[in-house]
Amino acid sequence: MRWATAALVILTAQFAVHAEKAPLDGYEVVDLEWILPIDPNNPSGENMTVTGTIEDAIAQMDAKYPGWNQTFTSSLPPPDAASLEPSTESDGFKCGDPWYQCSQAAIVSGAQYLQGVKSDPPKMGTGPSNCGRVSCSWASSIWMCNNSTLGEAQSTWKEIGDSALFLAYKCGYPDRLNMWVTRGQEFFKGNWSVVVTWADC
Ligand SMILES: *[C@@H]1O[C@H](CO)[C@@H](O)[C@H](O)[C@H]1NC(C)=O
Ligand SMILES: *[C@@H]1O[C@H](CO)[C@@H](O)[C@H](O)[C@H]1NC(C)=O
Ligand SMILES: *[C@@H]1O[C@H](CO)[C@@H](O)[C@H](O)[C@H]1NC(C)=O
Ligand SMILES: *[C@@H]1O[C@H](CO)[C@@H](O)[C@H](O)[C@H]1NC(C)=O
Ligand SMILES: *[C@@H]1O[C@H](CO)[C@@H](O)[C@H](O)[C@H]1NC(C)=O
Repeated sequence: MRWATAALVILTAQFAVHAEKAPLDGYEVVDLEWILPIDPNNPSGENMTVTGTIEDAIAQMDAKYPGWNQTFTSSLPPPDAASLEPSTESDGFKCGDPWYQCSQAAIVSGAQYLQGVKSDPPKMGTGPSNCGRVSCSWASSIWMCNNSTLGEAQSTWKEIGDSALFLAYKCGYPDRLNMWVTRGQEFFKGNWSVVVTWADC
């Protein structure tokens, strides 16, 4: 039992060291930028630019504009069930390895935020082989990885949210404690993918 605990501590420490490592070998992590309306009910009004995950972005908006989070979350549509059909842009998906299991509920909640964000599509910087951490809560993360060499934006926050929701349910299973977990990756035409996996938020 003690050995098991020690092994767990070592594993956790190793994950923590690599917290900002991209989920794919050879990929760089880029900070995501969000251009969000200062009034969530008025998407064509003034915007503010914030960086990080969607949860970081919400916290920054709420710090500057108290009540922003409540306005945003109370206007969110319920998770879009249509996303359970693979998107026409999908190029397949895989569940399980090499991804680590994470909370299905946390991924669903991150996906719901993404589906509700009305702003410009993510900018992933230049060069292929970039990943951005889109959402992270309860040690559960949604990543968007860009392997495109072309200069056009290929995704929207809604598409990424739809994909995360799709993976949350398609790849979901109950773990040994009967908690619902998930892990997987969906590929899109145009060489980008969405990953749901464990992370040290
Ligand atoms: C804020 O961003 C939205 C979405 O991209 C855009 O339609 C709107 O014009 C922007 N607002 C201003 C004042 O530029
Ligand atoms: C935003 O509100 C939701 C729902 O009330 C809450 O779960 C979440 O922790 C809040 N996020 C921030 C960054 O305050
Ligand atoms: C990314 O693209 C390069 C070159 O097109 C290819 O060699 C590599 O396997 C791709 N990586 C992934 C994860 O798709
Ligand atoms: C996607 O990757 C393939 C194979 O690596 C490559 O031939 C193609 O040009 C890439 N397309 C884009 C949009 O990057
Ligand atoms: C993906 O990378 C290319 C450069 O290789 C860039 O031009 C494109 O805008 C990026 N796509 C996104 C969605 O950031």
